[in-house]
Amino acid sequence: MRKSYNIAVIPGDGIGPEVATEGIKALSAAAEKLELKLNFNSYDFGGERYLKTGELLPDAAINELRGHDAIYLGAIGHPDVKAGILEKGILLRLRFELDQYINLRPVKLYPGVDCPLKDKRTEHIDFVVVRENTEGLYVGAGGVLKKGTPDEVAIQESINTRKGVERCIRYAFEYCKKRNNSKKLTLCGKTNVLTYAFDLWERAFYEVAREYPEIEVDYAHVDAMAMWFVKNPEWFDVIVTDNMFGDIITDLGAMIQGGMGIAAGGNINPGGVSMFEPIGGSAPKYKGKNIINPLAAICAGGMMLEHLGEEKAGAIIEKAVMEVTGKHIKSLAAGKMGYSTAEVGDMVVKYIA
Ligand code: IPM
Ligand code: MN
Repeated sequence: MRKSYNIAVIPGDGIGPEVATEGIKALSAAAEKLELKLNFNSYDFGGERYLKTGELLPDAAINELRGHDAIYLGAIGHPDVKAGILEKGILLRLRFELDQYINLRPVKLYPGVDCPLKDKRTEHIDFVVVRENTEGLYVGAGGVLKKGTPDEVAIQESINTRKGVERCIRYAFEYCKKRNNSKKLTLCGKTNVLTYAFDLWERAFYEVAREYPEIEVDYAHVDAMAMWFVKNPEWFDVIVTDNMFGDIITDLGAMIQGGMGIAAGGNINPGGVSMFEPIGGSAPKYKGKNIINPLAAICAGGMMLEHLGEEKAGAIIEKAVMEVTGKHIKSLAAGKMGYSTAEVGDMVVKYIA
């Protein structure tokens, strides 16, 4: 009997449905090749549904999603919905409710991809950011007083729990140990200013490090890290950091690996249901034009299969993407690929087969 997986698909907003379609094509091709069975169940959460019904993510849906092996997400974000509503009500709610406490973001320059950094090649850019995904500034702690008056006070606090920080750091050490690279883990923080939060991070980091003598440990302040990403990206293997810093440095990471057209991520609960997504967002201006790059979504699909224990399937997808970037696509940018969204998906499928 074929091994079978139930995947919930949330195509979402903007270009989400277009890129998710190509991702599913690639996933199905890899499944076919390796004799796996993937069952896709689609959910229409996103801006359109919210505008029509006022509904973001019903409680019952969260429970249904829990019954799947993984979630495959296109994009969330709609120009007619005020910023924050869909992000908090759908994307962040899923991350929190499903306790996806790791946001895993590989930063890897594939062959043929234009890198904005002078003299940096594929061997220089290959690292992974392990971002804490359920705490920090994202929990919504704080509040506002006297809103709209000259006396307005706005407070937004970063929550860091020993448990939450330590489980993230442990995941990063384990990930670094398994990854076939230089076995170096760098903590990214701001110990010179955020002396409460990053003191906790730093202590937890060096305490856990004692259990991993084979891993070289290092530390960098987040501002310096931004500089090193541009100057010496080859220094990094795995990086661990908090939610907010991770959000910022992974956008920078996406740019040095060639742009949002190729950047994928996983929201991971190692003991639960994880969710995989291209990190570029809904890009509403490209919606329906069939010109957006689907490779980020396809790579997210590869990460999903790898996470499900189908390493071979994940590797086949990644290799096919590298063939397409190396041999065919001139630019990763929307409208400049020289191919349509669907044609790029077809090429990946051809290499998988
Ligand atoms: C990301 C996104 C989200 C985040 C937004 C859409 C809430 O930027 O996945 O990095 O800030 O985490
Ligand atoms: Mn982000």
